[in-house]
Amino acid sequence: MNETSIITNIKELIGIQTLQPNFNVDLQQNLNCIKKAYLIVENGLIKDFGEMSSLKLESQNYDHHINLENKKSILPVWNDSHTHIVFAGTRETEFVDRINGLSYEDIAKRGGGILNSANKLEKTPFNDLLESSSRRLEKVMQMGTGAIEIKSGYGLTLESELKMLRVIASLKEKYNLPIKSTFLGAHAFPAKYKQQKSQYIDLIINEMLPAIASENLADYIDVFCEKNYFSVAEMEKILQAGNKYNLKPKVHVNQFNSIGAIQKAIEMGAVSVDHLEVLNEKDIDALKNSSTIATLLPSCSLFINIPYAKGKTLIENKVPFALASDYNPGSTPCGNMNLVVSLACINMKITPEVAINAATIMGAKAMEIENESGSITKGKLASLIVTEDISSYNFIPYSFGENNIERVMIKGKWI
Ligand code: NIG
Ligand code: FE
Repeated sequence: MNETSIITNIKELIGIQTLQPNFNVDLQQNLNCIKKAYLIVENGLIKDFGEMSSLKLESQNYDHHINLENKKSILPVWNDSHTHIVFAGTRETEFVDRINGLSYEDIAKRGGGILNSANKLEKTPFNDLLESSSRRLEKVMQMGTGAIEIKSGYGLTLESELKMLRVIASLKEKYNLPIKSTFLGAHAFPAKYKQQKSQYIDLIINEMLPAIASENLADYIDVFCEKNYFSVAEMEKILQAGNKYNLKPKVHVNQFNSIGAIQKAIEMGAVSVDHLEVLNEKDIDALKNSSTIATLLPSCSLFINIPYAKGKTLIENKVPFALASDYNPGSTPCGNMNLVVSLACINMKITPEVAINAATIMGAKAMEIENESGSITKGKLASLIVTEDISSYNFIPYSFGENNIERVMIKGKWI
């Protein structure tokens, strides 16, 4: 049955796009809106929208009529293109260690960090992992996230990586939002391979990738390319192997050091390069001349106290970018995209227009779902945030730490 809804007297309809825009800085700097608007939903999709003055309302023609009384606004759901929400246990002990003076890198060197999470995950049964991940996913959906990418990378053995990816596959079945799955076996070297790194890379290439591909468990492949983790040459080898299974790269680069990873990832057709807290001129030039999406993660900078990526400089250099949460137990135990948008405005000195586009349409582009998600566009998913009674969209980043969300609709259904 064709279920239809009409939403009338929308104070402001925010984030309107044509179906196939150019993904450049002009797109990112302009947040197209209509004041006093209506929007029609049919079968989970946006059927139509426009100014109230142009609407001939016959509300009996719709199954549901919601009147926002010119108090509440609507924007597309957040498209969070970088998360690690499948994890076991939490790492607040390391948080306290950092307060007492250790750095994120110090903690990793003594066997904490990613390896700590991998130990916990190995001991956690599938169902427990699915349950805790479901809870996290439901929580971020309540906070407006309506499309999400989720990585493996706390397994680091064949069995545990498969367990994580199967949990993501179950989340895809259980929840009605677009979910992309990324294989991140190259997140860290397990302790037993510290002296035989090439053996771990062989395990990724010869055992993990074929098993994952045979169950069709991943949409993308990721590598943490960084000093003390995976080198540029190691990343290249792993991405080449992923390419044989049609897994495009989405990679962790330039979090602590600029080592040429951006250039290599672009050369290898990366959909996105993520983190970018450390960027030099050559890196920016490489991004300028590519269609790879830069993805910035400001809540990671907040939590582990590292520099914020230079969003303003990217915009000045005509490089558009996405914003994502990086939700994970170590560097960002928070998946609140409303806070991400605030932090980006405050610390990257970018406007609310740039930040909201980065967290919606650019996030969709970084998951290759820009034709179905990320904006108010006829034919796209009716996945919407209805705000509380707020003065303007500037209030969203301004009121940092609050969510200002009254309801969230995913594919035409209120959650
Ligand atoms: O994106 N930097 C690499 N990976 C994650 C954090 C991993 C962890 O500390 O558990 C990140 O920040
Ligand atoms: Fe990450």
